[in-house]
Amino acid sequence: MKILVTGGAGFIGGNFVYYLLNRYPGDKVVCVDKLTYAGNLETLESALQDPRFTFYKADITDRRDVEEIFSKEKPDAAVNFAAESHVDRSIGNPSVFLKTNIFGTQVLLDACRRHGTARFHQVSTDEVYGDLPLDRPDLFFTEETPLHTSSPYSASKASADLLVLAYFRTYGTPVTISRCSNNYGPYHFPEKLIPLMITSALEGRPLPVYGTGANVRDWLYVEDHCAAIDLILRGGRLGEVYNVGGHNERTNLQVVQAIVDLLGKGEIVFVKDRAGHDLRYAIDPSKIERELGWTPTVRFEDGLRRTVDWYLTHRAWWEHILSGSYRRYYHKMYGGKIS
Ligand code: NAD
Ligand code: DAU
Repeated sequence: MKILVTGGAGFIGGNFVYYLLNRYPGDKVVCVDKLTYAGNLETLESALQDPRFTFYKADITDRRDVEEIFSKEKPDAAVNFAAESHVDRSIGNPSVFLKTNIFGTQVLLDACRRHGTARFHQVSTDEVYGDLPLDRPDLFFTEETPLHTSSPYSASKASADLLVLAYFRTYGTPVTISRCSNNYGPYHFPEKLIPLMITSALEGRPLPVYGTGANVRDWLYVEDHCAAIDLILRGGRLGEVYNVGGHNERTNLQVVQAIVDLLGKGEIVFVKDRAGHDLRYAIDPSKIERELGWTPTVRFEDGLRRTVDWYLTHRAWWEHILSGSYRRYYHKMYGGKIS
């Protein structure tokens, strides 16, 4: 298969690129990424040496560029990771979230329609379901839970999901959607909770916990998410949504304290809460387990230890981000457009 991966210079997309290259020696991977502040070519350094991998610096909202790439590459499938993904940034500036996450998805769907691409997979999020109360541990998000979004980010992702399902119903575009809980692991941009806390502790900066730290997230090691997407891509039913999560619920304070314990340092400070802060996410993954045989393989304690080790042994990767030099890297290496 030739698989087009958008957003492959980001956290989960980058891990997915390596998942495919390592697991399927016969597959080719075409990556399309705008290299926003969250995109990092240093993440793809090894992939760029692989003849089975091609990189395009392009914006998924640019119809002409997307059309050119689809015409040239003729992918068998497209997996859309490209997005503005940080909730706090969406509260500060919603516009770019709507543009990339909704309009960009439509541009890709149109390209898939025009080129008869055999599969479009949308990487969505559990945040489209809104949140669950903290005092009802018996409740979980299923694929039937109504969409009920809280932030401009989640509203943009829910809008994209509706568009994807509309293309299936109206045009018969062969689509699937996955809605996953919070991921963690290597190459996670250090503005998100886990990498922010690890890198801050290592640099002697305080660890800012929003509110009281009682909000709950359902953590999944990124490789388990990649495996789920791969299974859906190869065996999922068209027009279906699959929830992905590993029943690994932790309060934010528990997560941050676990990082402090692993590193043996870090000063927790409680700061002003996020506006509209979702209380609890918790996924019921029984559909993907039943239909596709997916199960998470990494326990949270093991995954967190692995993640902390990765940040300890890959200091240059995140130090370049914090210093800003990762932005200069692709200009130096490639100048403008890359193909
Ligand atoms: P990320 O912010 O780390 O990476 C996003 C990537 O998309 C970056 O490489 C960026 O350069 C690229 N991008 C942004 N706008 C683009 C555009 N207009 N054109 C082309 N490329 C563009 O995000 P992530 O955490 O890896 O998330 C990837 C996807 O998974 C997103 O769609 C997100 O909604 C979804 N998701 C994330 C999580 C999580 O915990 N991180 C969980 C569930 C779902
Ligand atoms: O659930 C899936 C979602 O998980 C994805 O769709 C998003 O793209 C991804 O960013 C993530 O969203 P969250 O808002 O849950 O992740 P974040 O890392 O920003 O925050 C996790 C929790 O930690 C949340 O309750 C807010 C809290 N937090 C976050 C930061 C950055 C803090 O307490 N302090 C912080 O400094």
